[in-house]
Amino acid sequence: MKKEQLLEKFAEIYGDGGEIRCFFAPGRVNLIGEHTDYNGGHVFPCALTIGTYGVIRKREDDKLRFYSMNFQETGMLTSDLSHLTPSKEAGWSDYPKGVIWALGERGYRIPTGFDLLICGDIPAGSGLSSSASLEVLTGLMMKGLFGFEKLSMVEIAQISQYAENNFNGMNCGIMDQFASAMGKKDHAIFLDTATLQYEYAPVKMENAKIVITNSKVKHSLVDSKYNERRQQCEEAVRDLRKVEELAHIKSLGELDRETFEKYETAITDPICRMRARHAVCENQRTIQAVQALKDGDLAGFGRLMNASHVSLRDDYQVSCDEIDLLVDLAWEIPGVLGARITGGGFGGCTVSIVENEAVDRYKESIQRAYEKRVGHKAEFYVVDIGDGAYAF
Ligand code: GLA
Repeated sequence: MKKEQLLEKFAEIYGDGGEIRCFFAPGRVNLIGEHTDYNGGHVFPCALTIGTYGVIRKREDDKLRFYSMNFQETGMLTSDLSHLTPSKEAGWSDYPKGVIWALGERGYRIPTGFDLLICGDIPAGSGLSSSASLEVLTGLMMKGLFGFEKLSMVEIAQISQYAENNFNGMNCGIMDQFASAMGKKDHAIFLDTATLQYEYAPVKMENAKIVITNSKVKHSLVDSKYNERRQQCEEAVRDLRKVEELAHIKSLGELDRETFEKYETAITDPICRMRARHAVCENQRTIQAVQALKDGDLAGFGRLMNASHVSLRDDYQVSCDEIDLLVDLAWEIPGVLGARITGGGFGGCTVSIVENEAVDRYKESIQRAYEKRVGHKAEFYVVDIGDGAYAF
């Protein structure tokens, strides 16, 4: 999106003049480490070059005005600094409002209102974190506009997650907001969600590309199924803590596979046991995968991605027919090193590592078979890994 176009639209909606500033926060794709972030495990996401743009200007009063180029039919949404509660009528503006509220809870009081124009280029419902990017964008804009110098990018990620959990009712982990705030061009972030220690790993591959395939389906009740998974993992931890040797654990991320297998029968509910098995093994796979990448073993990395998919499909049960089809098709194609569901699940996208010479074949053969079986087309994006949120 060009800056001139954004500024032109801003002037059309809110009028010209004053200090108008532009910001961007990216979406993300997670390479491996799924549903581990709220289990104290590791994740390995990277920021994309698509995301959410914001153009903003301070106001003298405490009014908040929001306009999204993606929801032009909704028109302008308004609120004010003394009415920061979620509401149905607020629609998408509950995301920025939530962050403003959460900043206040942390002692970052917003002194005046603003006019805000938003434009996003993440495909709707794709699971590539459009909401997290909007939250992080809001945090960065507030920092830029009101001079919160002490507010770090990691804190913006945490505040954004807090807003998502407590204002918007989705009990997500920190991964999406962290990736959007802290991303780095051509690198993935190896993040330990228990400590927030992180390391950037270069993922510029000479012979292969990361390809996102959008199933273009989003099944209903995604948030409630997500929150249910989280509760099942918490129940598993409660059961495991009844074992004397495990009385100290706080999360599943603290267990290795061997320890888990020794004590897993302490988890009474078989469903919770399956969920826990995924969380423990996925965390181990993520650690191994990052090592494989460092060793230049892309094939090994791909095999771990495949195992991740099987675990998300069978033990965590967050896949769906359309996604399984995309993954099964990918696994059949020579030159595909690995493929799996990515993100929260129940639709959305897959992520694959595809050798350069196989990318066209990948797109063509998947499109043909997918359209025939599902009745609509998939969409493909060859990934460019971008930087975390910035002003421009
Ligand atoms: C969603 C959540 C993340 C993470 C993933 C699954 O994207 O927002 O916190 O839990 O699902 O890995």
